[in-house]
Amino acid sequence: MKLLIKNGTLVLGGGEKKADILIEDGKISKIGENLTADCKIVDASGKHVLPGLIDMHVHLREPGFEGKEDIESGSKAAVAGGFTQVCCMPNTDPVCDNAVVVNYIKNRQREVNLCKINPIGAITKGESGAAMSDIGKMKKAGAVAISDDGKSVMDSNIMRLAMEYASGFGLKCLCHCEDINLVDGGVVNEGYNSTLTGLKGSLRAAEDIMIARDIALAESLNVPVHICHVSTYSGVEIIRSAKKRGVKVTAETCPHYFILTDDIITGFDTNTKVNPPVREDKDRQAIIAGIKDGTLDCIVTDHAPHSLKDKQVEYNLAAFGISGIETSFALSYTYLVKTGILSLCELSQKMSKAPAEILNLEGGELKAGAAADITVVDLNKKYRIDSNKFLSKGKNTPFNGFEVWGKVVCTIVDGEIKYEV
Ligand code: DOR
Ligand code: ZN
Ligand code: ZN
Repeated sequence: MKLLIKNGTLVLGGGEKKADILIEDGKISKIGENLTADCKIVDASGKHVLPGLIDMHVHLREPGFEGKEDIESGSKAAVAGGFTQVCCMPNTDPVCDNAVVVNYIKNRQREVNLCKINPIGAITKGESGAAMSDIGKMKKAGAVAISDDGKSVMDSNIMRLAMEYASGFGLKCLCHCEDINLVDGGVVNEGYNSTLTGLKGSLRAAEDIMIARDIALAESLNVPVHICHVSTYSGVEIIRSAKKRGVKVTAETCPHYFILTDDIITGFDTNTKVNPPVREDKDRQAIIAGIKDGTLDCIVTDHAPHSLKDKQVEYNLAAFGISGIETSFALSYTYLVKTGILSLCELSQKMSKAPAEILNLEGGELKAGAAADITVVDLNKKYRIDSNKFLSKGKNTPFNGFEVWGKVVCTIVDGEIKYEV
């Protein structure tokens, strides 16, 4: 099994370089100029060739919520978005809090056979926050991290024990940071626009307190911790100062936090409802600064597909979440690279190498010997986002109609073309 990618501009750690990539038996066998082989050729003239994108934070909804998404539709959406590998959160039904569910997801991945899928196990049984789940058994079955994403583990002692236990197994806790008592039913950022709309607000402090707590635990215990979907300027600052002290903290953010502000909630479009909520311009700018200076290590989607009936209700009742896996690359390229904030190499790093490093996954680099997980993009292609065209079952995006640059044209996983336009 061979495949040759010809005449593309490769995005390598050190910079961009025109070269061909020869793939043999699922691996990159050679990178060089004027390569030839008697096999299928992907013509990448005028295109950029990136290490396959990796999304370490998605919701695939299977088992239990297949009306919103399933592993097949989520995988189709992932490869259309340029992702060769994703990590899926455990807030399914049943919750992925044991080896059986981890194995189920891995089996479904093999059946669907599109992108690589790494299950994330729950920190607590049923994500109830009460008793720790079988972390060791889940790790053995293939879980790559633990998280109660969707909520915080409110009991600090349970969180302490989970962090210690997980680190013993070489796993990180991925922390959804939200003090649920302080959120108190808030659905948007608390500020001018929550007052204007009458929608109940949620303070930055509800997020910041848990970011600070989880960092304090990690620092006291000398274990690593990862902060999910950072949305506040003050959260960025807490993480920045912890990193300066040498705390083993990594962090992610999502396109909606560096593109949108809570001005968009004034239209009452429930596709803008997400947890944590989009905040104000000073938050947005601080997130961008955090991406640029490395405080925020990686970009994830927090792909949270919901069905129409979950969203076509009044704002207070609508589900939280944005279907983001098919728009992430173009939005990030348009708003971070086209604007001159990041180079394409830096963006590639944030969407591929950094998540691989954080979770110890293979991938993230184009080099001989590596698995042939590759994303080819056409950066000159401008188009409007159209959620009706999503392969994901979740059409819930606040970016519908946005004009973006950068189209994924080919996604290759272990040397096999899984998506091609
Ligand atoms: O907006 C969100 N949606 N935030 C979360 O933390 C959970 C996610 C979901 O599962 O829908
Ligand atoms: Zn979350
Ligand atoms: Zn999430």
